[in-house]
Amino acid sequence: VSEVKRYALIGTGHRATMFVRALTTAHKDAGQLVALADTNAHRAGVHAANITAAGLPAVAIYDAADAHRMLDEVRPDRLIVTSPDYTHAGYVVAALDRGIDVISEKPLTIDAAGLRAICDALDRSTADLTVTFNYRYSPRNAAVKRLITEGAIGKVLSVHFEWLLDTAHGADYFRRWHRHKESSGGLLVHKSTHHFDLVNWWLADRPASVYALGGLRFYGAQNAIDRGLAPAPALSRDADPAAEPFRLDMAADPHLRQLYIEAEHLDGYHRDRNVFDAGITAEDTLSLVVGYRNGASMSYALTAFSPWEGYRVGINGTGGRIELEVVERSWVPAPGGGDAFIVDPSALADGHGAGTELRPEGERLILQQLWQPAREIEIPKGVGGHGGGDGAMLADIFRGAAADSLGRAAGYIDGVRSVIVGVAGNRSLETGQAVDVAAFGLPLGATSRG
Ligand SMILES: NC(=O)c1ccc[n+]([C@@H]2O[C@H](COP(=O)([O-])OP(=O)(O)OC[C@H]3O[C@@H](n4cnc5c(N)ncnc54)[C@H](O)[C@@H]3O)[C@@H](O)[C@H]2O)c1
Repeated sequence: VSEVKRYALIGTGHRATMFVRALTTAHKDAGQLVALADTNAHRAGVHAANITAAGLPAVAIYDAADAHRMLDEVRPDRLIVTSPDYTHAGYVVAALDRGIDVISEKPLTIDAAGLRAICDALDRSTADLTVTFNYRYSPRNAAVKRLITEGAIGKVLSVHFEWLLDTAHGADYFRRWHRHKESSGGLLVHKSTHHFDLVNWWLADRPASVYALGGLRFYGAQNAIDRGLAPAPALSRDADPAAEPFRLDMAADPHLRQLYIEAEHLDGYHRDRNVFDAGITAEDTLSLVVGYRNGASMSYALTAFSPWEGYRVGINGTGGRIELEVVERSWVPAPGGGDAFIVDPSALADGHGAGTELRPEGERLILQQLWQPAREIEIPKGVGGHGGGDGAMLADIFRGAAADSLGRAAGYIDGVRSVIVGVAGNRSLETGQAVDVAAFGLPLGATSRG
C-alpha cells in the first residue's frame, strides 16, 4: 500500500465497530481514522477511546450537525457512513460534492428521492461511492455465483428466495428506528436490499417490475391486542426476565452497555423498546414477485418472526437447479435464556446449543443438473462475521478490490439496483399495483447482455 488514506466516519453505533476495528488492527497500515461524527457524543467517545487505546493518534469528534464542517476542516480522503439509513443520502452527497470518496453501509438510501440525489451528485463528482454488500463475500453466496457463472444450470429462468428472521434478530428491527418506514424504508429496503443485491449479482441482471403484498401482522400494538397478549413495559429491560420472550438484555454485553445504555441520558435513544408499541409502520411479513430485464422472475418472501433463522434459495435454469439452504440459528431459547440476546445469529459459532438435531445449524448447497442425481457442492469454510464475508470485504475496501472473477466489490449502481426493488415494492404496497422499475428514471447499469 503506497499511501495511508485518511478516513472520517459518521454514525458511531454498533456497525461502526467493524470499520473502527479494521482500521485499528488489520488495515491500520492502509488507513487512519482522523475524525468521528455522531449525534451522541458518548457513543463517538467510546470509539475514539478505542482508537487511542490501540496506540493510534487521537481523532477529532464532531456533532453530526457539524458534519459538513468536519468534511471541510478535516478534508478526509474517504468518508465511512454508518448512520441510520434515512441520513445516508445527505452525507453521501455532501462528501461527493467535496470530492471525497464514500463507503456507505447498506442500504444506500431509503427512497427514490435519495437515490436521485446520490446519482446526481455522482454525475457532478470525481469521487467514488462504494456500498458495503458483505453478503456477496460470504463463501456460500459466492459459491452460488460461481456455479451460475460457470454455466452449471444454463440460463437462469426463475428464483425462489425465502428469508427468515427469528424472534430474536427479527424483533430487533421492531425495537428501534428501523420500525419506522421513514427512518429505514421498512425491511423491504433496510434488510431485503442485501437479498435483492445477491439476486441482481447472481443473475448479472437488473430488476424490471415489482409487485408486493405484506403488512405488520405479528409485532405492533394491534396484533398484541388481537392475540390477547398482556401489556409489556415500554423498555423490554423492565420486563420479567423469566417470562418475556422479547426481552433484550443489553446490560449483559459490555459493548452494548457501553455504546447504548451508558449513552441514553444524552439523547433518549433506547435500543430495547417494546416490539408491541403503537405507531410501528414497518412490515414484518412481505411477499414479492420481481421480474428481471433478461426475463427471469423471482418469488421472494421475508418473515421477521420465525422460530428459526436462515434462508432458502432455489434457482432454476435451462440446465438444472441450484438449492442453497442455510440455518443460522435453529431455535430461539425460551424467555430470557441462552444467547438470544446475540441479535445477529451470523455472529454465533456453528452448532451452538442443544436441540438442533432436526434443524442443525449450517449450510448446504446442492446442484442438480437435468437428467442427473443431486450432488452437494462444497462451500469453503469462512471465519468471522457473516461467514467470513466481512473480512474479505474489508480487505477489498481498505486495500483496493482484489482481482476477482466473481466481481464481488459493489459499486453505486449495485446500491441503486438493490434499493430500487425495495422502493418499488413499497410503492406497490401503497398502490396495490405492479410497479415498473424504469418509471423511476434512475440509472440501473448494464445487464450481462447489456
Ligand atoms: N451490512 C450489514 O450487515 C449491517 C449490519 C448492521 C448495520 N448495518 C447498517 O449500518 C448502519 C448503522 O446501523 P447500527 O445498527 O449501527 O445503528 P445504530 O442506531 O446502532 O447506530 C447509528 C449511529 O448513528 C447515530 N446517529 C443517529 N442519527 C444520526 C444523524 N442524523 N447523523 C449522524 N449520526 C446519527 C446514532 O447516535 C448511532 O450512534 C445502518 O445503515 C445499517 O443498515 C449494516
